[in-house]
Amino acid sequence: MNDLAGKHIVLGLTGGIACYKAAELCRALVKEGATVQVVMTEAAGQFITPVTMQALSNRPVYGSQWDAREPNNMAHINLSREADAILIAPCSADFMSKLLHGAADDLLSLMCLARPIDKVPLLIAPAMNREMWDHPATVRNRAQLVADGCTVLGVGTGDQACGETGDGRMLEPLELLQDVIAFFQPKVLEGQNVLVSAGPTFEAIDPVRGITNRSSGKMGFAIARAAREAGAQVTLVAGPVSLPTPRGVRRIDVQSASNMLAALVEYAQEATIFVATAAVADWRPAQAADQKIKKDGSGQPPTMAFVENTDILATVAQSPRAQSGALYCVGFAAESHDLLAHATAKRARKGVPLLVGNIGPATFGKDDNALLLVDASGARELPHNSKLALARQLVAEIAGRLPAAQH
Ligand code: CTP
Repeated sequence: MNDLAGKHIVLGLTGGIACYKAAELCRALVKEGATVQVVMTEAAGQFITPVTMQALSNRPVYGSQWDAREPNNMAHINLSREADAILIAPCSADFMSKLLHGAADDLLSLMCLARPIDKVPLLIAPAMNREMWDHPATVRNRAQLVADGCTVLGVGTGDQACGETGDGRMLEPLELLQDVIAFFQPKVLEGQNVLVSAGPTFEAIDPVRGITNRSSGKMGFAIARAAREAGAQVTLVAGPVSLPTPRGVRRIDVQSASNMLAALVEYAQEATIFVATAAVADWRPAQAADQKIKKDGSGQPPTMAFVENTDILATVAQSPRAQSGALYCVGFAAESHDLLAHATAKRARKGVPLLVGNIGPATFGKDDNALLLVDASGARELPHNSKLALARQLVAEIAGRLPAAQH
């Protein structure tokens, strides 16, 4: 993906051991298509050299407001005017306090103060010892910086370079990359509470065997990520898959269709949008054996009775909240042929306003897909693309269809 193509980011480094992570962050931003201009404070230079950052960003690093390379000698103006965002990573406790007070005694703080505040957003990735992070001064500074329009990214928890353990270390480079990508996505689902089901279910036959299917969960995870990027609060109810949880998403792991039904019915009570991408098993063994079923030597396989699982989507779509328009339900249909006819029929059968069809065997486990959106006014194709790109398009399509009361 090239999620940051065309974006110019000023990456500011301040004094902290997390400067070593800024090198990888710089590389990750560049790989995602951004151009990166590094600006370092004098303290940052104690932890990492400009040589490293120049090599990774492919641009000379700036550190002084008296840099004679700028013809007008106004690096703070020139550098900030070109930026789509200023990202300070790591941002030390001292630099947070400087930003808060509008200090301007070095190039980076001067540039932050001089930036056109409505055009050039400021993001900071704090990094400090846990006592410093929890100190009332830092807590106060953080709140005031947010009030001043600065985006304060989270911090990590765990072992710190000082030997202590707790909150305050800088997020990992790839986490920061996700946050920067998310920052630039349009916030079309701000204020919405999105519930997504994803992956297969697993219906136990006995303690070692079960029935499942080939759903990888990738489409559902991509939708959860896209909804979060669009500003929604997101809960992802996932069957057994080995995918990382998208950043900022609450994940509930389940196994069987019955577990999934219970979780979704519960979380649907607070959701405003439900997207059902899970490939729920249609049937489960009527009785799961407590012990492993052994061959009895007769050469005959055991007989097995099945019962049909509850249709989760139809159940949620018939709930009073969905019927009143407070919960917008979106179904998926994995078909092998006649997509339009099956998706249209399934939309009516499930009682949902929007049904998204795809050809199952063509997409299971893959990173790309093509979607067919069927609603009351007809069908619309979202042509072949990565699942994440399609998820973002689908999120925009859903946002555009929400009843006016939900906007
Ligand atoms: N679904 C569900 N609960 C079930 C079965 C399906 O919530 N027990 C949801 C899926 O998450 C998906 C949609 O219903 O959003 C369609 O799933 P699909 O398996 O394609 O449809 P089925 O109803 O199983 O129809 P068929 O097997 O006849 O194609």
